[in-house]
Amino acid sequence: MISSAANDCCELPSTGKAGFTCHTASTVSPAMTQPPAAKTRILFVDDEASMLRVLKMGMRPMANEWDLQFAESGEEALAFCDQQPFDVVVTDMRMGGMNGAQLLNQVMRRHPQTVRIVLSGYADLSEVVSCVGLTHQFLTKPCSLEDLKNCLKRVTGIKHQLGHEKLRELTGGLVNLPSLPKLYLEIADALQSPLASTERIAEIASKDPALSAKLLQLSNSAFFGFSRRVFSVAEAVQLLGSGVIQSLALTVPLFSAFDPQKCPGFQLEEIWEHSAATGALACRIYSHHLDDSHLAEQAFAAGVLHDIGKLILADKLSGQYADILAEAHATRRPLREVERQHLGTSHAEVGAYLLALWGLPVPLVEAVACHHHPRRCGNPSLCLSGVIHIADALQHSLGTQPDAIPSPVDVDYLKFIGMEADYEIWRHEHLQKFHESV
Ligand SMILES: [Fe+2]
Ligand SMILES: [Fe+2]
Repeated sequence: MISSAANDCCELPSTGKAGFTCHTASTVSPAMTQPPAAKTRILFVDDEASMLRVLKMGMRPMANEWDLQFAESGEEALAFCDQQPFDVVVTDMRMGGMNGAQLLNQVMRRHPQTVRIVLSGYADLSEVVSCVGLTHQFLTKPCSLEDLKNCLKRVTGIKHQLGHEKLRELTGGLVNLPSLPKLYLEIADALQSPLASTERIAEIASKDPALSAKLLQLSNSAFFGFSRRVFSVAEAVQLLGSGVIQSLALTVPLFSAFDPQKCPGFQLEEIWEHSAATGALACRIYSHHLDDSHLAEQAFAAGVLHDIGKLILADKLSGQYADILAEAHATRRPLREVERQHLGTSHAEVGAYLLALWGLPVPLVEAVACHHHPRRCGNPSLCLSGVIHIADALQHSLGTQPDAIPSPVDVDYLKFIGMEADYEIWRHEHLQKFHESV
């Protein structure tokens, strides 16, 4: 509803195009909402003058922290961006002339480091699905100004805390992440089958880091308006339904194949198997340790996602990343160390940055960010980051590749949580299971 005196409690109107209630992320963590030191530049784009007026009034209290600009059309917005890029662009979808999807496409190409948010009352699923790769966050009208501000604080906080400038550009230009071609065939088969069940689709999708991330992004977005945060792919598929998955598979270049020539030494299949195995092991350890199936499902999803940053680096920095991989192999140093030496960051942070921008729940983002250094979470009991760290180290300890890059367990962390003996038991059991399976 439109309020003449816009304040923190007023709602942004739906403008009659469609009516949804905004469910912005309930994942605002204090660590991610610290105001950045420099003024953050935010551009709002809407072709309805009344909406821009409400936004101007409502955002006025933030003028000390944010440099705010408003545009009445896509063309005007693009001209503003070209004069001086923005940290965040928030746009309506349905506008005369250049629409929101076209605008975001141009912004992504010209200024990939800009965070792209849709704030729209647009109800058409296929239109929304078509800009899935272009958009970091979806908000829906009517939306409270408080929710909008929280969302903006969260994404700008993520940018400043996790986003290394060079890697902000890399992740900003991403439309999708590579998946294995066989996965596409399996999903297509499952969708075409008259007996296709959401369980079967979830089973296939949940093993793939790229598809898992995309389904969790969608199911946690305001567009679908689910009242709870979605942590597992099985839950995401169940909530979205096979129709939405079908739309995604048909209308979005959701699956992109990876050209192995691009980044010699990077094996997508290996990452895929390692991620799925880490997820399964983390799930087993957590369910045994906590006896909580919901948390065990989160551990599975976090395990599948934990190395997603490697996909981004191999896809975007190809040649340089091939050199980094070769150096890690030759020197037998942990990959994260060599990445940090050359890039100033690691695959853990790159992956966490993208997932945070996509609005995935904070525990999953934190588990990805801290999977090499779980002590950073400061939790004295086995937390999600810790179980992913342990499962990852156990997977690496199998040494299935003769030239495998080491990824040792953090012994100080085991001491910190008092689980050195448990680790030895898990290691023994895991080795035994592995030898039985081969
Ligand atoms: Fe890793
Ligand atoms: Fe890993």
